[in-house]
Amino acid sequence: MCGIIGYIGYRNAVPVLMQGLEQLEYRGYDSAGIACYDHKKADFILVKEKGKLAALREKVGDFCFDAHVGIGHTRWATHGEPSRVNAHPHTDASERIALVHNGIIENYDTLKKELQRKKIRFVSQTDTEVGVQLIGRQYGKTPQKDLFEAAKEAIPKIHGYFAFALLSKDHPETLIAYKRSNPLVIGIGQGENFVASDVTALLPYTRQVVYLEDDDLAVVTRKDVRVFSLKSHSWVRRSPVTVHWNISQARKQGYPHFMLKEMHEQPEVLKNILKKRITKKEDIFFDTLPRGFPGRLKQIEQVYMVSCGTAHHAGLVGSLAIEQYTRLPCRTQVSSEFRYGNPILSRKDLVVLITQSGETADTLAALREAKAKGAATLAVVNVVGSTIAREADAVIYTHAGPEIGVASTKAYIAQLATLLLLAFYLGKLRKKIQTSQLKRLIKDFKKIPDQCSKVLKEGKRFEACAKKYFSRRNFLYLGRGYNYPTALEGALKLKEISYAHAHGYAAGEMKHGPIALIDHEQPVICIAPDSPTYDKMISNIQEIKARDGIVVAIGSQGDQNLEKIADDLFMIPKTIEVFSPILTVIPLQFLAYRVAVLNGRDVDQPRNLAKSVTVE
Ligand code: AGP
Ligand code: GLU
Repeated sequence: MCGIIGYIGYRNAVPVLMQGLEQLEYRGYDSAGIACYDHKKADFILVKEKGKLAALREKVGDFCFDAHVGIGHTRWATHGEPSRVNAHPHTDASERIALVHNGIIENYDTLKKELQRKKIRFVSQTDTEVGVQLIGRQYGKTPQKDLFEAAKEAIPKIHGYFAFALLSKDHPETLIAYKRSNPLVIGIGQGENFVASDVTALLPYTRQVVYLEDDDLAVVTRKDVRVFSLKSHSWVRRSPVTVHWNISQARKQGYPHFMLKEMHEQPEVLKNILKKRITKKEDIFFDTLPRGFPGRLKQIEQVYMVSCGTAHHAGLVGSLAIEQYTRLPCRTQVSSEFRYGNPILSRKDLVVLITQSGETADTLAALREAKAKGAATLAVVNVVGSTIAREADAVIYTHAGPEIGVASTKAYIAQLATLLLLAFYLGKLRKKIQTSQLKRLIKDFKKIPDQCSKVLKEGKRFEACAKKYFSRRNFLYLGRGYNYPTALEGALKLKEISYAHAHGYAAGEMKHGPIALIDHEQPVICIAPDSPTYDKMISNIQEIKARDGIVVAIGSQGDQNLEKIADDLFMIPKTIEVFSPILTVIPLQFLAYRVAVLNGRDVDQPRNLAKSVTVE
């Protein structure tokens, strides 16, 4: 939530900041701003605008900058409405320091009152301004106008989870960056350095990055980066790592939207995962599990899947697979409920945290709760080096590549594939799956990437269906077993990007309530591939038809029952039930995408949402 960018070096800072913000815009987009130190004017130039980055870009064009250092921000408001005055960067009362902030200052009210008693005047409604005013007051007390010293003194007084980048007029040769829970990376260049909320903003310039750890306060100059840990009260070494993503992965490459591009990348993502995870001997291999962790997995008596949103739906599928193939009880919960539900955990429990960004605050809090209670923690994460990936006892990367569209597609498919592999791996480890059974599963799994391509090729067909229903305001999604989570995911996708009301339900539960909603207006999307509950699903569909309902069905190739009863039908290639969610979700992604486009929605940046939700 919110993107921070900082630059110090030999280039014109403005285009670097603007390009960085463009890459980070998916994190928040209600307002944006930059502050640069102009060498000729020996002063800050501060430009802020309400709305998307385009509005800021237009405004920036009115200024002439001579700046090689600056900070920028794209906001997702938590405190104070989206407006120019609340947009970042914020400055202190003396206007000598500027700050951009991601996250929440939880004790902002107390701090604000204290500062107001000291006659400090506030201009915005943000919690952020409290941070900059507090540091600013401390700064005024330092004889050399030392921003590092001021930040070091002031930051411990601030409660909450956040990241800052700071710049002072008195020492424009230095940028200061601080991280507590929220992500912040330093990009290492030649004669230039960068600060950013995530690596995608750095890819045009460098692949060498330093991931800051919690309570790190970094002093960044053109030539060097020094890190002081507020935890250990000492200067620490943080080694740079090389990022393997490339910039073309983070661009649209001719697609009208990132979401559509990312949907089309799904077969490649699956191929890549299978290549990485399946050995020549047809075994499953997770390269990042620490030594000793597999031994611990053998002792586990219960598993929890903990995650949010789309990742939670992947968790529901993973949990069914774990129960089926390991016979271990597996519970699935959303992170925010798990975290505050006082979960009963011990060393015999495994908590699997699933997250694309690796930064979701609810999931991070759940991870910390699980660790504090002694459970083994395993993160299934896409973004390499993210906080959750680093804090969990073990990590498995999903290797989906950068996902920019706010509505998750390829990252979901990658989570599904990885969790199924994890279930098979655990099954084998705990001797619940025989080698021959694993071989058969792997054989079927290897067909999935091509089957996924086939479904994607049908893309055009969804257009006709979307055209028929795009103006409807209510949609119901039904599925059973492994495809009940698909119903939830399909409904979430539609809600997120088209703003239509969509509800996912277990098909067998329809008769216990939602059946009252069936009419000739509301499309009911029925996910009914081959499965042990197929006949029951067909009965549910008949119940809908008997009440004059509209049935949009997703079935397996050659299904004649569905051909007869469905109003609209999409076929997926035949596979066993456990793999079917990877294929059945694709028509639902298309449906959501087309309905959103036909309604003129902003597909990649839907209203009120942010890609990475770093507040609880
Ligand atoms: C997905 O389409 C959503 N935008 C959202 O539900 C997302 O999956 C959720 O916020 C979790 O994010 P994470 O995977 O980065 O933790
Ligand atoms: N809490 C700050 C605000 O509302 C920062 C929010 C963000 O992370 O964008 O401005």
